Amino acid sequence: MISEDPAPAVRRLLGRIVAATHNAGKLGEIKELLSPYGVDAIGAAALGLTEPEETGLTFRDNAVLKAQAATGASGEAALADDSGLCVAGLGGAPGIHSARWAGAAKDFAKAMARIERELLSAGAPRPWRAYFISALALAWPDGRVEVFEGRVDGELVFPPRGAKGFGYDPIFRPDGHSRTFGEMNSEEKHGLPSDGSPALSHRARAFQKLAQRLLQF
Ligand code: IMP
Repeated sequence: MISEDPAPAVRRLLGRIVAATHNAGKLGEIKELLSPYGVDAIGAAALGLTEPEETGLTFRDNAVLKAQAATGASGEAALADDSGLCVAGLGGAPGIHSARWAGAAKDFAKAMARIERELLSAGAPRPWRAYFISALALAWPDGRVEVFEGRVDGELVFPPRGAKGFGYDPIFRPDGHSRTFGEMNSEEKHGLPSDGSPALSHRARAFQKLAQRLLQF
């Protein structure tokens, strides 16, 4: 629970931050999630930073390596999100390979169809449970790095529903909701409450933890 307004503390510490991502959908969400704190995010592409290879075996490791690469190249504090969709009936796949399943063409219709095809061929019992997870790594120019994780559980629906959001949003219906993330506008997807109770999306939940931590400085 965030018991006091974290905006001044976050703004004082960060002012501007490098968002270590080349994914436009993710950058948009990071900007939205930082804006209530008065913090501006600049994307890695706008700074001409290259994308490091994601060689980690966990979301956490990949978030740390992306944030450290961006802060090393820019000299500024950097925030990286490594996230993905983990499907119970597929042993957690696509997981850290969520972006890769869409291929170089970033074809998420194809990636979502693959999930359905593999669930059907595995004979996975319904409902098809899944969760989104986001590991947010904040790297400081002095070498410190901190990681915050958020997760949201739900069910997969086929055919995909809704054209909002990005990636796998159209097949994910969070628990307690009748609409998929693809049918929600971004405010609804983040689900950030004003009273400090838990947010909805994995990324917004990780951001709540980040803001809470910055309050301790
Ligand atoms: P990475 O973290 O850049 O390696 O890629 C994460 C991938 O997971 C994205 O390309 C999306 O396909 C998927 N993903 C992560 N978060 C979300 C989300 O909020 N909605 C839909 N797809 C997501």
